[in-house]
Amino acid sequence: MATKVLVVDDDLNIQRVLVFALKQEGYEVTVASDGAAGVQMALEARPDLILMDMAMPKLDGYAATQQIRAAEKGVGHIPIIMLTSEADVGQRVRGLRAGADDDIVKPFHPLELMARIKALMAQSAPVSAKAGGEAPTIGKLCAFYPAKGGVGTTTIAINTAIGLARELNRRTALIDANLQFGDLRVFLDLGLDTPSIVSAVSEPDLDLDLFRTMMVKHRSQIELLLAPPTPASADLVVERQRQAPTVISNILSLSRRLYDYTLVDMSQAIDDFNLQLFDEADVIFVVMTADLSCLKNVPLVLETMVSLGYEQGKVQLVLNRSNAYTGINVSNAESALGRKIDYQVINEYRGAISALNSGEPFMSSRADAPLSKSVLAFARAIDKAFAPDAVPARA
Ligand SMILES: Nc1ncnc2c1ncn2[C@@H]1O[C@H](COP(=O)(O)OP(=O)(O)OP(=O)(O)O)[C@@H](O)[C@H]1O
Ligand SMILES: [Mg+2]
Repeated sequence: MATKVLVVDDDLNIQRVLVFALKQEGYEVTVASDGAAGVQMALEARPDLILMDMAMPKLDGYAATQQIRAAEKGVGHIPIIMLTSEADVGQRVRGLRAGADDDIVKPFHPLELMARIKALMAQSAPVSAKAGGEAPTIGKLCAFYPAKGGVGTTTIAINTAIGLARELNRRTALIDANLQFGDLRVFLDLGLDTPSIVSAVSEPDLDLDLFRTMMVKHRSQIELLLAPPTPASADLVVERQRQAPTVISNILSLSRRLYDYTLVDMSQAIDDFNLQLFDEADVIFVVMTADLSCLKNVPLVLETMVSLGYEQGKVQLVLNRSNAYTGINVSNAESALGRKIDYQVINEYRGAISALNSGEPFMSSRADAPLSKSVLAFARAIDKAFAPDAVPARA
């Protein structure tokens, strides 16, 4: 069956050029000449992809994209490439926030457009239809659990995920399990109008294809299952989990099937939701810093893990800001804990905070910085532990 592309553009010349180029490539093309008609055709005809002009009279491309995304309610996701007239960052960001997946600046070469279309279609194709999509994933679940708040759990989870995805070429998902106050949206510069774990737990027949539509693609190459948009909607997730813990098991097992690694950024609570995450995880990274409060909490956490019956290797200690001067060095900490610290991430306050405030994780923006290298070494160690025989695509 031919791939159906909907062109939404008020400019007759552009319409003609696009229709010609797309038909030549074997696409089935329909055209809408304004935003409102575009929204209607998108929802009725369910094209496989939309090319959306941004500057249109009446309903512009941003509003049309927003309306389509709102009507999809996070279920189903037609890929949208926006056509902009200027390489203006503000416009691009606005379009991506509205829900577009990619953009291309006019005038563009038809070959570039075709390449973008193919790339986007490949990304959003059902797994079973992807070339090599049947290949099993490594399918590991890594929980990141804070020994106390503010130690850098989210920072490490995000940047480790990006390291696995970009540097080691692994399909990587990151789940924000801080249900009430998840930070991934702000840390990764994503809006509130994205699907979240609420969509996933509310869907009675969640299958692989539906689950993919709930994963938010980030430009850093990781995919996210976001926390509920408000603290109040977090209750929905907790309530669902209480009624039917299999709902969470199903989400996690779909994620294992889709991704080599699923990383989970957890909150510190020891509640039913987190206990289930602990149970399902292949490894629990307890993130700590070298201070008294962590040295008090870590043994309590370790005891809890023993009482849950986990074998020793399942729980690993990650010392963040390891070379910060706290008066407690690594060997002091190890002797206080009576066990070794498995991994260390160095301290680089400026690098960490400026990445945070710019919404661009340091692993994307400054991959060569010492902090990025330190987290990457950790990501490599994870990959080596779980996939010792696999050769990373990029060394
Ligand atoms: N390796 C590091 N070096 C220096 N600063 C760091 C490092 N890791 C994290 N930080 C800083 O520590 C602060 C807390 O980080 P982050 O939000 O990731 O922690 P958290 O444990 O997830 O916190 P919360 O309890 O709020 O979820 C941020 O300002 C971050 O920039
Ligand atoms: Mg956090």
